Amino acid sequence: MPRRVLVTAALPYANGSPHLGHLLEYIQTDVHVRARRLAGEDVIFMWAVDTHGTPIELRARREGIDPAELVTRMHAEHEQVYRDFGIEPDIFYTTHSDETRKHAEFIYEKMQAAGQIEKRSTRQLYCPKDQMFLPDRFVKGTCPYCSSADQYGDVCEKCGHTYNPTELKEPHCAICGTTPELRDSEHLFVSLGRFEGFLREWLNATKLQPAVRNYVMRWVDDGLRDWDISRDAPYFGFSIPGYEGKKFFYVWFDAPVGYIGATQKWCDEHPERAAFASYWHADQSQDTEIVHVIGKDIVYFHTLFWPAMLHAAGYTTPTRINVHGWLTVNGEKMSKARGTFILARTYLDHLPADYLRYYFAAKLGPEQDDINLDMADFRARVNADLVDKAANVASRCHKFIVGRLEGKLGPIPDDALPLIERARERLAQVPGLFAEFESAKALRLAIEIAEEFNGYITVQEPWKVIAKDPERARAVCTAGMWASKVIAAILKPVLPKWAAVMEEGLQLPAPLDFVNAIEPLPEGLVMGAYVTLAERIDPKTLEAIIEASKETMGGAAPAAPETPAYTVEPLAAESSIEAFSPVDLRVGKVLAAARVKGSDKLLQLTIDLGPLGQRNIFSGIAPSYAPEQMVGKHVVVFANLKPRKMRFGVSEGMVLASGAKDDAITVLELDPRSLPGEKIS
Ligand code: MSP
Ligand code: ZN
Repeated sequence: MPRRVLVTAALPYANGSPHLGHLLEYIQTDVHVRARRLAGEDVIFMWAVDTHGTPIELRARREGIDPAELVTRMHAEHEQVYRDFGIEPDIFYTTHSDETRKHAEFIYEKMQAAGQIEKRSTRQLYCPKDQMFLPDRFVKGTCPYCSSADQYGDVCEKCGHTYNPTELKEPHCAICGTTPELRDSEHLFVSLGRFEGFLREWLNATKLQPAVRNYVMRWVDDGLRDWDISRDAPYFGFSIPGYEGKKFFYVWFDAPVGYIGATQKWCDEHPERAAFASYWHADQSQDTEIVHVIGKDIVYFHTLFWPAMLHAAGYTTPTRINVHGWLTVNGEKMSKARGTFILARTYLDHLPADYLRYYFAAKLGPEQDDINLDMADFRARVNADLVDKAANVASRCHKFIVGRLEGKLGPIPDDALPLIERARERLAQVPGLFAEFESAKALRLAIEIAEEFNGYITVQEPWKVIAKDPERARAVCTAGMWASKVIAAILKPVLPKWAAVMEEGLQLPAPLDFVNAIEPLPEGLVMGAYVTLAERIDPKTLEAIIEASKETMGGAAPAAPETPAYTVEPLAAESSIEAFSPVDLRVGKVLAAARVKGSDKLLQLTIDLGPLGQRNIFSGIAPSYAPEQMVGKHVVVFANLKPRKMRFGVSEGMVLASGAKDDAITVLELDPRSLPGEKIS
């Protein structure tokens, strides 16, 4: 076991409010940290808000304030929300700090001295009116591939193609609409290729989920591209040494350095706890573990750029990176129109944080599958697991002992010993499971213990036995109280308040942990009144959350929910294109087409994809095409989209079509000789 563990979660961007997608990651991280502490490990959780970049610069400009002021405000908002969700980092700092600046400059200078940074002239779009170079997401124009209008500079949301902003047709500045011009600018590039040997070694040595290692290795095999780490003024960030006020570090250069900056700050403030060097200048992988928890959209940054930077400047490199999937709500990408883009604060206005902590932790494993928050399942799960099972053991035994047996505990009866033994065996697996991000499995064990003891109590019927043998009834319920203590210990990383209620109710001499949870309860202990551990979720609250999350435009009705507007996952403002998976376009032949009852937008199409079989696809082309017009057409199908559940059924792909208005849509038609299922490039 390493002596020290440093855990981080990805640093949330300061330009938006935290939503439930963020919470998925931050709850996962918080649970991991708490659980490892309960297992006796020395763990620190270093965290901060990510503050730099064009989005912040522009938002501050719009609000007429200094970016630093905006960041301070957003920092406070984030901090409060996370605190209300029970997330307890040791520090929640900011990347806009002297500590982060100092370490970022140090890393840059090391790389510079080692000849790992190259100057190169680049040609980019420049807005003469705003007097700035426009990052990808600040240019809009017509897609060079499918001619859809109003697309961003990095990817077309209609056809999924990625490209350079300079390839856009009729480009215009997304801020002011002016046509940008091409200008040359000198940029600084990290030659990532020089790190190939190191990165291969590191990727093999560090703890990564197998699927993640495989695809990162594939990126390395495909050849590492140089990385542009500079941005021209105006840019909210740190000046690059030697280019004060002119060039700034690209936000992704200093953002991860925020992990180090936060540690520096925390160590400076807690000299008694640990020395900074024991984390970031540690004897590699011997004593110190560095764990990053991240989402799948930022893997490239954490597995290639970041270790290269650390290695170049002599810092400890991460020993583990854990990647989680994406949060979907009711089976779909979070959507403002559907009211499923739920802000963390909106949730808290309606429900206690603990239910969501439990639900997420009960679903999370080490896979990168998307995690779906299904409102009906959420309610059923919390009610069944927490109320009907876990809390039920304590509630029935505690209330019975207090109501009928003077509150006094007794001995554990012999016939409960096999159950107690099985509970111990389960508890013994818990630390390892949490340490491996297997919180779903760990929590399952708590619920199994509850099921066994609930069964035992039901069969033993202490409420009947009490008439003839009150001591027997006391003993049966005491076994239940002991089980409740073990259950509370397993739930503790997720539901610390629940554990606190048990600690108090049972007057435990020390806070519960994974080791002391099995100790016997003192015979003769007198318990006070039962305190409720969990309450049922009212379905109305869930509707209220969705309602409150609906984006109403000027009081108008929310956008029609049935249009199958597939979009590519929007990326953070300045993400790399590597985050996109390739789009699989195929020839499809329309076999049948029908109107959809209840929708005037949709046609239901049955499409032949040859060797890939038939697909059922809902397409929003009804205003422009009669069903009979579609039959027999050869069309372009996005074949590798996730099936999407819609009100009318499941849509298994998308047909390429575009148009400026709903009733002027053109389906891209292929030569009738093209073969169904054939790949289109
Ligand atoms: N600022 C960068 C991270 C810098 S780390 C040195 C960033 N910020 S973010 O606010 O966009 O996202 C923060 C984390 O939340 C990321 O790990 C991201 O994957 C995660 N998520 C954001 N939306 C999410 C979902 N809908 N679902 C799951 N995780 C999501 O990226
Ligand atoms: Zn402009």
